[in-house]
Amino acid sequence: MHLKNETFIYKMKVKRANRSFIKKHRSCIIWLTGLSGAGKSTVADLLEQKLNKQNKHTFLLDGDNLRHTLNQDLGFSDDDRNENIRRIGHVGKLMVDAGLIVIASFISPFEKQREFTRNLFEKNEYIEVFLNTPLEVCEKRDTKGLYKKARSGQLKDFTGIDSAYEIPKNPEITLDSEKYTADELSDKIINYLSEKKILKL
Ligand code: ADX
Repeated sequence: MHLKNETFIYKMKVKRANRSFIKKHRSCIIWLTGLSGAGKSTVADLLEQKLNKQNKHTFLLDGDNLRHTLNQDLGFSDDDRNENIRRIGHVGKLMVDAGLIVIASFISPFEKQREFTRNLFEKNEYIEVFLNTPLEVCEKRDTKGLYKKARSGQLKDFTGIDSAYEIPKNPEITLDSEKYTADELSDKIINYLSEKKILKL
């Protein structure tokens, strides 16, 4: 394929299906979205542990962690958040093409950026999981002390306080973290993956 700026895309012969065949499972990205403190990292971590025990080849991309490396140049303006998710979307896409089960855990607060990410993938490859934890609950937990800082004005553009979180319109899975434990929530995702026949070829 010939692109505008004189760069080319070479169609390689080894495809994602060839790579995931070696893994004996399908590749996909499980995209966890929700407020800070909703429990995304906890559920993502448990999910990865369980899949790893089943010999699935996983990789976990986590917002807090990647903001110290790949995305250390980005802040929390709308533009920076969009760039954060754009980069992660593409990294996730490379990993899915490599044949892995990717777990992504980012606030990803805007419907447009989640839609952008969804569109990078083929149908059934992108599984959006909305961790539905009310703001009051996240704020009460305040594990990192960030809500307190945001309320006192020490921290600007904080999601849910002075920066928006748009409720996902069509997530594949919505998890109620008030009804279930993190362990049960990670099982719900595993059940979904089994139903969709992702864990076996
Ligand atoms: S996103 O909005 O761009 O998707 P991301 O998931 O990468 O956010 O990072 C969120 C984490 O950064 C939070 O869990 C929190 O620990 C930290 N953080 C620091 N400042 C902010 C802020 N202004 N808004 C939200 N999270 C913040």
